[in-house]
Amino acid sequence: MNRNDFPILKESVQGKPLVYLDNAATSQKPQVVMDAIVEAYSHWNSNIHRGVHHLSQVATLHHEQARQHVADFINARSSAEIIFTKGTTDSINALAFSIGELLIREGDEIIVSGLEHHSNIVPWQMLCERKKAVLRHIPLHDDLTLDLEAFKGLLNDKTKLVSVAHVSNVLGTIQPVEEIIRMAHERGVAVCIDGAQSVPHMKIDVQALDCDFMAFSGHKMYGPTGIGVLYGKREWLEKLPPHEGGGEMINHVRWSGTTFNDLPYKFEAGTPNFVGSWALKTAIDYMQSVGMATIEQHERELTQYCVGLLREIEGVRLYGHSTQNPSQREDALGVISFNIYNGEQLIHPFDIGTLLDQQGVAVRTGHHCAEPLIDELGVPGTVRVSFGLYNDRSDVDAFITALKKAQMILM
Ligand SMILES: Cc1ncc(COP(=O)(O)O)c(C=O)c1O
Repeated sequence: MNRNDFPILKESVQGKPLVYLDNAATSQKPQVVMDAIVEAYSHWNSNIHRGVHHLSQVATLHHEQARQHVADFINARSSAEIIFTKGTTDSINALAFSIGELLIREGDEIIVSGLEHHSNIVPWQMLCERKKAVLRHIPLHDDLTLDLEAFKGLLNDKTKLVSVAHVSNVLGTIQPVEEIIRMAHERGVAVCIDGAQSVPHMKIDVQALDCDFMAFSGHKMYGPTGIGVLYGKREWLEKLPPHEGGGEMINHVRWSGTTFNDLPYKFEAGTPNFVGSWALKTAIDYMQSVGMATIEQHERELTQYCVGLLREIEGVRLYGHSTQNPSQREDALGVISFNIYNGEQLIHPFDIGTLLDQQGVAVRTGHHCAEPLIDELGVPGTVRVSFGLYNDRSDVDAFITALKKAQMILM
């Protein structure tokens, strides 16, 4: 893992070397990704799919090559199953609208889980409001694993879709999505996987998973902001109506009506982010040059190393890495949430985050856009540490030293 590939890691914060541990929010970018953006604007910037002229054709080739690359990366059957969006949130909103139009009627039910990011709650709530449908959620056991028996009980003839996170952005725990997909499919129910926190950290094979949809964001996987993906099985995408209208997504427009384009263009209204798609392709190349198995192994080890050190600090309470169930440590990837208590008194995570920042350590504090889960934990928020491929034990050591200092100041 070459940290020198990431120029920002040489920055200082508050006069201290930057220790960046907020990768679940967004990852840093390697130089090659920034170069890809400059290359696109310097050499072939031109609107795609529309021009007979050379630059437009070159830009189109890059965009479609990027789409094929994403398809190969997640092992989709075809590039027609890859829809470029702005990110995970945009992907889930698009799906919620389209599937809502196709499938959801009054009284129907949609199931999410008790540990979702707001992006995988609010679009479904809005859809349920619009269609007078009902949003249900899979409850959590005390150890913060999903209660699959309860899930079984929730599935019924009114259930039309299940949408769950693959990896929790608060706990880092890997959810049993294979089992959830199998159980839902047994009842003929489609499943969407929120892959925002899994695609950057582990090898994903959508055919092996057999999920019907998957959403993820480029900026969390070393790519640029403003580009993301909605994967959908072709048979679903063929049936779904488009969620937006405009240029690109049409076949013919007449005053009498419009016919829609083929997949995947039916879902890509307006000028697409063809520079972003190329930069995302470059980010995927970068990850593959390191190797997805290597990235996963490295981040698992780092997570375990950090959890081990946190456990030794008095007053630390970890969430989703409970001492009651240490085996869960093996099922957590890249994200650790915790709080520090002074006796029974919680030290506010914001205070810890501020003191860490003063020592150059960037972590996240608060509800992490997962308020229902944070409510369930019964705390105002947590401190969250999250790793990327460039982090190493020196980052963890710097974080632990800074945390102990913060603790001394606050206790
Ligand atoms: C699990 C999960 N889902 C969805 C999102 C939303 O991603 P974006 O803001 O890139 O749309 C995030 C971002 O933190 C996330 O962690």
